[in-house]
Amino acid sequence: MDGDSPRPQVSQYGSVDPAPPEQSGELQSWTGTLCDEQQPMFQRMRAVFALRNHSSDEACLALCKGFNSESALLRHEIAYVLGQMQNPVALPTLIQRLEDEHEHVMVRHEAAEAMGAIGDRSVIPVLQRFTSDSLPEVAESCVVALDLLAWVQRAEFAETEW
Ligand SMILES: [Fe+2]
Repeated sequence: MDGDSPRPQVSQYGSVDPAPPEQSGELQSWTGTLCDEQQPMFQRMRAVFALRNHSSDEACLALCKGFNSESALLRHEIAYVLGQMQNPVALPTLIQRLEDEHEHVMVRHEAAEAMGAIGDRSVIPVLQRFTSDSLPEVAESCVVALDLLAWVQRAEFAETEW
């Protein structure tokens, strides 16, 4: 039996998260923990995954506030879960993170991939602009995101053929 196992559980997004989502609390308390520089990173990440699992527009926008964090690791994790959530309300913030040349390369890479995962084709011109970024991690992530958007469109087109 696996039910009592203390091992990390697979999330509703099919991923095993680096920190288990906080079970108690609500949107406001998770946002507070996320934005509190004094909290341990593990707790802040638990708040990230709790907000992701909430999967509302409000949770998405709360996560966007977390980009003010001093930790590039945390900002990168936020970009990753915004891709998992696939909610276009995060797009203006993700575009800002990709465009900010002072942002950490890991965060810019994850923002680009999240933009692809969200599946809204309005971001194509922005992604195209950064396919020639001087940082290969950024440029390659934009190529992958553009390929994903094209692949999804082809798959949708194939479905309507039937
Ligand atoms: Fe990544």
